Amino acid sequence: MDEYTKNIVYYMNNTKFTGTLEEYTQRIYYKSKICGDTVILFVVLKDSIIDDLKYELNGCALNTASFEVFCEYLIGKPIVEIKNLNSDMISEKLGVHPKGKDHCITLALDVFGMIEAEHL
Ligand code: FES
Repeated sequence: MDEYTKNIVYYMNNTKFTGTLEEYTQRIYYKSKICGDTVILFVVLKDSIIDDLKYELNGCALNTASFEVFCEYLIGKPIVEIKNLNSDMISEKLGVHPKGKDHCITLALDVFGMIEAEHL
């Protein structure tokens, strides 16, 4: 288990934010131009606080782990915290920065950036 660390496997097997929300303030669909993976992110904002997040993803393990790490970080925080998301946060949490897989992390950053674009 070199490139896929125990932490990536942990996040894959213990997802907390997968699924859908019937009521949300924003729904974002995104398809990667690089790998074709897709995601739908559901966002609940209350008074500029990220109250809830869920995602449906057809993507790889690193992408799933990235969404889990970002969702975990953002829940309960002001929307401006989206500006603090970065790939180093993923590398630190997962204990690795898999070579040639930057787009898997970038996909998650792009999707969360779309929340920011609409609300900041
Ligand atoms: Fe598509 Fe990782 S291979 S997001």
